[in-house]
Amino acid sequence: MSTHSTGQNRITDADLAKTALAAGDPTGWFEQLYTAAEKGEAVIPWARNEPNPELAAWAAAHPGDGRRALVVGSAFGDDPEVLAAAGYATTGFDVAATAVAAAQRRFPDSAVDYRVADLLAPPPEWHHAFDLVVEIINVQAMPRDVRPKAIASVAGFLAPGGTALVCEVAEESVDTAGGPPWPLTRAEVESFAQDGVRLVSIEPIRDNTRWWAEFTR
Ligand SMILES: C[S@@+](CC[C@H](N)C(=O)[O-])C[C@H]1O[C@@H](n2cnc3c(N)ncnc32)[C@H](O)[C@@H]1O
Repeated sequence: MSTHSTGQNRITDADLAKTALAAGDPTGWFEQLYTAAEKGEAVIPWARNEPNPELAAWAAAHPGDGRRALVVGSAFGDDPEVLAAAGYATTGFDVAATAVAAAQRRFPDSAVDYRVADLLAPPPEWHHAFDLVVEIINVQAMPRDVRPKAIASVAGFLAPGGTALVCEVAEESVDTAGGPPWPLTRAEVESFAQDGVRLVSIEPIRDNTRWWAEFTR
């Protein structure tokens, strides 16, 4: 996920992550990266300007009909917007305030409730509160020691009868020496099934470079 530097002074996600992690801060570098990108000093490597294609296909086949959806790590808003368009009452949250503000600027008439919140310390009222929970390539950007907490939060959001969709980079598909992503093993993906959450399906996608998994409670 490291940025492809186009200039010698470019700030990279790998550098920021390394410094933040050394200081014991697993997520502080995201705000730094978004801030640097707004100044033209960095590139956001995951910015696609379009929703995740597997999520878009899933949403087209599963209309929301007003059900509640939560998008973890909402970044610039493409994924929450596709769910809102499919009829979900959608909340998108990100730990980086600059990303949340950028999503709100991009979609000024949005029905999405954008929030600044931390997956590692989420609002208690989100517990078991969402019929659809979407976790796409966020946990893989967190160091392994905080992963169990992040995964427990995701599982905790899911309401009875709901669906959680999880997509992460698969282990051994990338060189992790330079920084994030830190891919997940199949067992790590399966570990979202906890606290009453059950695995429905898991499959490798995109030539085995990613996991796509569905869960229910
Ligand atoms: C690799 S990006 C993925 C963004 C988006 N989900 C996507 O598929 O493109 C990770 C996102 O998660 C956010 N993030 C990282 N740690 C977080 C945390 N503890 N709580 C909430 N969001 C977090 C980052 O700010 C960033 O926007």
